[in-house]
Amino acid sequence: MSGGTRRAIAAGCRYDRPVTDADLPSFPPGFAWGVATAAYQIEGAVTADGRGESVWDTFCRRPGAIRDGHTGDVADDHYHRWPEDVALMATLGIDTYRFSLAWPRIQPTGSGAVNQIGLDFYDRLVDSLVANGITPMPTLFHWDLPQPLEDAGGWLSRDTAYRFADFAGIAATRLADRVPLWITLNEPFVVTALGYALGVHAPGQALMLGALPTAHHQLLGHGLALAALRAVGAHQVTITNSYAPAWAASDSPADVAAATAYDTLHNRLYTDPVLLGRYPDLAPLGLGPAGLDCVRDGDLETISAPVDALGVNYYAPTLLAAPQDAALPFQLQPITGYPVTAFGNPVVPAGLTELLTSLASRYGDRLPPVYITENGCSFDDEPDAAGQVDDRQRISYLDGHIRAVADAMAAGVDVRGYLVWSLLDNFEWAEGYHQRFGLVHVDYGTLRRTPKASFGWYRELIAGQPRRSG
Ligand code: BGC
Repeated sequence: MSGGTRRAIAAGCRYDRPVTDADLPSFPPGFAWGVATAAYQIEGAVTADGRGESVWDTFCRRPGAIRDGHTGDVADDHYHRWPEDVALMATLGIDTYRFSLAWPRIQPTGSGAVNQIGLDFYDRLVDSLVANGITPMPTLFHWDLPQPLEDAGGWLSRDTAYRFADFAGIAATRLADRVPLWITLNEPFVVTALGYALGVHAPGQALMLGALPTAHHQLLGHGLALAALRAVGAHQVTITNSYAPAWAASDSPADVAAATAYDTLHNRLYTDPVLLGRYPDLAPLGLGPAGLDCVRDGDLETISAPVDALGVNYYAPTLLAAPQDAALPFQLQPITGYPVTAFGNPVVPAGLTELLTSLASRYGDRLPPVYITENGCSFDDEPDAAGQVDDRQRISYLDGHIRAVADAMAAGVDVRGYLVWSLLDNFEWAEGYHQRFGLVHVDYGTLRRTPKASFGWYRELIAGQPRRSG
């Protein structure tokens, strides 16, 4: 297809879009195109079929925790409507679907007894995906820790890492025969930062740098889970981290030091141990070696067992200045001069190229193949009078970021796939249902799904790419 205004009718949704003049580059055959979701954000059915309680169920009931008191109780009701959602994915033509397994659905108290009905749900989902030619890519932990484990200390407790490995073994024993690539954790940085340091996500603890043991225990959980997965025949294993280029607000040594501190915390703390077998120097955070005194002999060997890929989530860069107060060694600044999403994130596609090339130069031949396991944006998408959702801002966002991936690949970074966050509008954590990230609009009154213009655009993009060989 050429540039200019493109028009397509796909899967019942129309779009007109101005695009840049250049055609999208062609990606290699076998490059995985997909979408991503997470259990608590879409499933609902929180008390169905023996599911236990998670920290998010509890947190949602805390007054003021979630915007407008929203909860994930119903969400997209994917637990009951999954056949319709798989049909949407088949129409979209994706190769890969990343979703997460709800630990409390499979092991209601986080340890011990297995709830077979919960496992059956994912078993059916995986079968259906495979039958539709879609590769399942499950994440074992996307933030819905069973509440009884939180009551026993959550990720502040070393024991949680062992419980997580048990859960991984249980899930993989049932599903590994149809799952080529497993993801252990989703964004442990966010769990530590928002869940345990700032208290704006579940479990709502505000320990500031006292939250650091949760970083180590999650990483230990990753390493132990990786071993458990391999033991039951899982083929490939990875971890998904969130990354954000850390830009200094000025050339002043204080701002540069603030950016280094943030880079250490966000971009290195969860990746150096996995790929290099050591923690980064915590001095930029004002911490000595005792900052992680929960690390025991042998832990780093467990954590750095080889992974087969690295999952990369990217939304936007960060801008850092020297702190005004002493609580943290940096202060986040607004980034101006770019379009912004409904969430207020600046739209900076070049940040994704910068991120990927900097990962390649930081880790060299220790960097395994990369999957972009999340990238996307929220806008206030609503159907027009004709029932169409004309989300051209999302098309522009995705177009720019996919080109940014191509630029990184042209610079030599080995990227194997790109997954849009998200298939459906869904429960956006502390923002409740206010941020719509989906390629498919969900009416939360009726749960009706309406593919947006971006759905048709992405479908056409995928259809125009070389297919898997064989
Ligand atoms: C998370 C998703 C979330 C998305 C958009 C990522 O940090 O993994 O669960 O919905 O960002 O905010």
